Amino acid sequence: MKNTFGGNWTEAKMEIIVAYAKAYLVIMSKQAWAKTIYFDGFAGSGLIEVDGREDVVKGTSLRILDILEPKPFDTYYFVEKDEKIKIALENNIKTNYPDKEKNAHVVCEDCNVKLVAMANFLTRNKSFRALGFIDPYGMSVNWDSISKLKGLGIDLWILVPTGLGINRLLKNNGEISEAWLLKLEKFLGLGREEIRNHFYKTQIVNTLFGEETLVNKEKSTVIKAGELYKQRLNTVFKFVSEPFIMRNKTNSIMYHFMMATNNSSALQIANDVIKPKYKE
Ligand SMILES: C[S@@+](CC[C@H](N)C(=O)[O-])C[C@H]1O[C@@H](n2cnc3c(N)ncnc32)[C@H](O)[C@@H]1O
Repeated sequence: MKNTFGGNWTEAKMEIIVAYAKAYLVIMSKQAWAKTIYFDGFAGSGLIEVDGREDVVKGTSLRILDILEPKPFDTYYFVEKDEKIKIALENNIKTNYPDKEKNAHVVCEDCNVKLVAMANFLTRNKSFRALGFIDPYGMSVNWDSISKLKGLGIDLWILVPTGLGINRLLKNNGEISEAWLLKLEKFLGLGREEIRNHFYKTQIVNTLFGEETLVNKEKSTVIKAGELYKQRLNTVFKFVSEPFIMRNKTNSIMYHFMMATNNSSALQIANDVIKPKYKE
């Protein structure tokens, strides 16, 4: 089984996380006391069919398992909600990484459940350090799950659907349905008034029939969505990297990809890895 999605940005995203993981393991190999976990919240099958290409390429999970130098991760934890895809990843690992099988856990669950479980694990086990990768299709990661990571030893790379998710729910006239408001609140961990204040400006105008309130969406709401998510991450983590901004063929922004950490050296590495690809 293959996951299908596409474009150069898929490759760029995988290159970023793999380059970061290698640099991370160089640092961790000097910390003899620390045990490392790679946590992938949206793991996929391990194989990707990229749009517009005939061949199948390795997904992030297998590329991370390929890292041997300076050392592999001590533990791998892959979360995949779709049972068939989860089994495909398990089989891939069994066949191609038999020596890693006992340290590579593949679970069929919602990422939110396992983010909270990982937060509890890291709270109890202070000698563990985690590198997390959150690569969802949509707005399926709840702010509540991210907030549980406060103060813990995890570097978290997260793909934020700013253009494909948040911006699509922000109607131009501000008349957002109750379901979409609830979705935005759950995703951002903010109340609807704070969300409105960030993305809309309100103007009182005098008309023939008295005062009227005009609500208009701010310009560059996708960029503002990226800035807002970065601010939100900064309430949980000390540092958040610059975003790698992913655009589609028509140059519209789809995602902001960023890393959150409590470690200043980790921040530096993340920004260095992103820099050559960072286009804004
Ligand atoms: C974008 S793909 C993952 C690609 C993978 N990260 C890679 O680079 O190879 C997203 C995967 O997440 C799974 N998924 C969707 N919602 C999920 C959820 N709430 N929790 C865990 N997995 C989920 C999908 O079945 C799909 O296989």
